[in-house]
Amino acid sequence: MKIILVVGARPNFMKVAPILHALVKQSVVQSVQVKLVHTGQHYDRAMSTSFFEDLDIPQPDVHLGVGSGSHAEQTAKVMVGFEGVCLTEQPDWVVVVGDVNSTLACAITAKKLGIKTAHVEAGLRSRDMSMPEEINRLCTDAIADLLFTTDDIANQNLAQEGVHPDRICLVGNTMIDTLLKHLTRAENLPLPAGVSNGGYGVVTLHRASNVDTAQTLLPLIEMMQTVSRDLPLVFPIHPRTRKNLETFGVSMPAGSNIKLTEPLGYLEFIGLVSHANFVLTDSGGIQEETTVLGVPCLTMRNNTERPITCSVGTNRLVGTDPETIKGAVASVIHGERPVKRIPPLWDGHAAERIVGRVLSAA
Ligand code: UD1
Repeated sequence: MKIILVVGARPNFMKVAPILHALVKQSVVQSVQVKLVHTGQHYDRAMSTSFFEDLDIPQPDVHLGVGSGSHAEQTAKVMVGFEGVCLTEQPDWVVVVGDVNSTLACAITAKKLGIKTAHVEAGLRSRDMSMPEEINRLCTDAIADLLFTTDDIANQNLAQEGVHPDRICLVGNTMIDTLLKHLTRAENLPLPAGVSNGGYGVVTLHRASNVDTAQTLLPLIEMMQTVSRDLPLVFPIHPRTRKNLETFGVSMPAGSNIKLTEPLGYLEFIGLVSHANFVLTDSGGIQEETTVLGVPCLTMRNNTERPITCSVGTNRLVGTDPETIKGAVASVIHGERPVKRIPPLWDGHAAERIVGRVLSAA
């Protein structure tokens, strides 16, 4: 039995690590061969290599090195490269995770070669077709043989789309497997100079709809400057956002209470979030991580594909209007703290359930 696991971009690494480790463990008692393919969608040390080190992921067996490009260009390059890998390796299963371009590209390629395909983190829906990730989710779920979901809302989404129940398997959240495994180590790392436990907010901002035009990005930067007068902000900046700030000719004013850093490694980032007063983000995964950590999360979007983080967890959608965001931050700083509750099956064992199901479906 040969299984190819695919990673491409930063949010994939923490989802794949526990599956890879569970497969390697199982290979001691069962004949299982695992190949890790990195498409190279993300390639900077801070966006890729450091995660392999932090999460103890071995070097990929194959690196496609596709790099950046337009959506069509990037997706097409992954498809061409991955087709060659599938033809050489002849795997029984291809496992893809998340919603990035590499996820979709590898799922289509594998299916058209008649290879069984599993999608981890299936069934999430923002219902916002202007998000490239929503298109990736819908297309991947339409064709994958096995759809591993993180919560019951995802199961309902898939059922509404007419997916046969035999294809759907509620397993929990592999990103949370990784979080729980590494939390103690992360919490014990030193905080950046100048901030103290509970006395700062963390900001992440990279979604194309927020950062790709000056009209959307600049008001958010101004909002951060205002917010930082009440509480210092740590802002690990995504390469897309940094590039756009440079293009728009914007720099953080001297003396600002915003601490700008390079993208952080996994452990450093989780440590930072675990001690934060609040998180302000447009990321998907961070909504889930803050839910488990019990840290208030204000999501600068009008929708989320992860509504359980609002109904059960500590997340709140605050949109992108600067005045609304400032009001929401003020409430959180002044004591409006959500209660910590963790969704069912987000217990650190999702990857084992996935591996059990894939191996039994062989
Ligand atoms: C991708 C995912 C997004 C995910 C995000 C996490 C898609 C459609 N988007 O967005 O869902 O939330 O990753 O980071 O797949 N760049 C670098 N170094 C890198 C990677 C990117 O400098 O290692 C820069 C390049 O200028 C590139 C830009 O970032 O053009 C955007 O990269 P891309 O992979 O296209 O999308 P992300 O914004 O990272």
